[in-house]
Amino acid sequence: MNTDVARSHRGTIFLEDGAEVIEHSAHAADQWVLKLRAPECAARAQPGQFVHLQCDPRLPMRRPLSIQRVDPAAGWVEFLYKVVGDGTEALARQPVGMRLSVLGPIGNPFTLNPERPLRLLLGGGVGIPPMIFLADHLRRQGQGAQTRAILGSEVPFPFRPRPSEILWPGLPDGAIATMPLLEDWGVACRLTSLADIPGAYPGFVTDLARPWLAGLSAELRDQVELYACGPHAMLAACAALAAEFDLPCQVSLEEYMACAVGGCAGCTVEVHTPQGGAMKRVCVDGPVFAASTVFPPV
Ligand SMILES: Cc1cc2nc3c(=O)[nH]c(=O)nc-3n(C[C@H](O)[C@H](O)[C@H](O)COP(=O)(O)OP(=O)(O)OC[C@H]3O[C@@H](n4cnc5c(N)ncnc54)[C@H](O)[C@@H]3O)c2cc1C
Ligand code: FES
Repeated sequence: MNTDVARSHRGTIFLEDGAEVIEHSAHAADQWVLKLRAPECAARAQPGQFVHLQCDPRLPMRRPLSIQRVDPAAGWVEFLYKVVGDGTEALARQPVGMRLSVLGPIGNPFTLNPERPLRLLLGGGVGIPPMIFLADHLRRQGQGAQTRAILGSEVPFPFRPRPSEILWPGLPDGAIATMPLLEDWGVACRLTSLADIPGAYPGFVTDLARPWLAGLSAELRDQVELYACGPHAMLAACAALAAEFDLPCQVSLEEYMACAVGGCAGCTVEVHTPQGGAMKRVCVDGPVFAASTVFPPV
């Protein structure tokens, strides 16, 4: 089926049944980078949003994947995923030229607060893709130099790290490895891992962020906002770090999803509001939430 027949859901989410696989590359630890031609999604996607993707025409259930990059002019959308089960295993077998069904873009994107132009992006494992999208968006708006990213992984990164030439004062010695894509965009980036990756800081993303935050003047720290995506424990640590320095933090959550368009309530999480606890659907009320509502300070 041709992508021209894309149908919209709620006027913002598009169903593109003929999204063609135009690139699909394997990386270490069964991580894959997938590029699909999906012009409706590419034209509308914002950092933090995701798609619900058919991994194989024979699988009845779609799987949610964060959007890593888009090119609205060329009409493609890129993802990074790790094979963990049947769906992602089937997806990894799809060759270039295959056509899949994509529903997206879905969810609330990250909010960019102009009062907080010093943005620290924290990505862990398959939580890295939304941070790449956010960094790309910010550098296109001329804010790359004010954006910093710390990316962590306990398996080899799905790219070849290289020493950074962008100075980042306030970090411990030896943390020099960066992601080449972000470096080329002029975004300061450092890597962390406990897996003995040369140049990566041997700790968690929050361990590397803390000394930088602690070394900032109060005036500069008032301009910082944190953005995080990764495993639940990492997000809890990011929320605690933000609370420690009294900083706003937005987290992107990953939950099991069935419909991904708000209809089944299968993805609800409890958030804390001034009025008390409330149940929210991660797919359409999120996936981005204020960290303090999901992980209230104790
Ligand atoms: C909004 C959103 C964005 C996501 N973005 C990405 C991404 O960019 N890249 C990526 O690799 N993955 C991402 N995921 C997770 C991805 O959707 C799951 O890994 C995938 O659905 C697993 O399907 P499967 O059939 O291969 O494995 P399954 O057989 O369904 O599960 C295999 C294992 O993965 C775990 N798992 C499955 N789904 C989830 C989930 N939603 N959250 C946490 N653990 C899960 C299960 O515990 C199980 O151990 C995202 C999830 C959400 C909700
Ligand atoms: S997955 Fe159905 S409401 Fe979110």
